[in-house]
Amino acid sequence: MLFDSHAHYNDERFKDDLDEVLSAMPENNVGLILNSCSELSEVPDILKICEKYPFVYASAGVHPHEVENLTEPDMDTLIQYAANPKIKAIGEIGLDYYYDFSPRDVQKKWFARQVEVAKELKMPIIIHDRDAHKDCMDILRDADIRDIGGVFHCYAGSVEMAKEILDWGMYIAFGGSLTFKKSVRPVEVAKYVPLDMIVIETDCPYLTPEPHRGKRNSSLYIHYVAEKLAEIKGVSVEEIENATFENAKKCFNITD
Ligand code: NI
Repeated sequence: MLFDSHAHYNDERFKDDLDEVLSAMPENNVGLILNSCSELSEVPDILKICEKYPFVYASAGVHPHEVENLTEPDMDTLIQYAANPKIKAIGEIGLDYYYDFSPRDVQKKWFARQVEVAKELKMPIIIHDRDAHKDCMDILRDADIRDIGGVFHCYAGSVEMAKEILDWGMYIAFGGSLTFKKSVRPVEVAKYVPLDMIVIETDCPYLTPEPHRGKRNSSLYIHYVAEKLAEIKGVSVEEIENATFENAKKCFNITD
């Protein structure tokens, strides 16, 4: 079975057929899904999805695009949401210097603050790092996150950087970009990272894998990522499925 470790089913692109898409998961070999959160106002809708579909878990946290108007009381709200047993991680949090939708000093402040909250709660973190590798690694190094772990979502860094992340006991996630024809670096990193530290994801509705690029993504396409990873690692697709499923369960402390 497959575990899609990063999806956004509360996105408006699923509003017309969410039930149809999610009901199709069990018969299509998708066993578990982690719905990633981008802003706190999404959490009630995300929790409704989790309640209806027992195989969907979630995170709570504020994406770097959305941090500009955050306040300290929002951290109390985050802590309250995180107490829900369906919430398994703090995220997605991090830095995005590609879009720069929020000023960089503000992004850094709230990234560091949310890592601190995760440490207080002893919960894993989901990292969003786009074109901000150095600052992202500096913040995580300073915070010392070895006791909480988590996952680098849609990993786009180097092998060197991956080494340090693995030293911290964090998982590395690969998604649709691994299947893109021009994808060189993710393939190189995927060769390097041991299979027991890899998880897979769709980031749906974004980042649709080949051969469906351009269409809306969903967890029904996660098998393309598993197949590509099997090819890179020279092992069976079944081995990739089993390993990444167990890894993601461990990463998010899902024991049932
Ligand atoms: Ni995401």
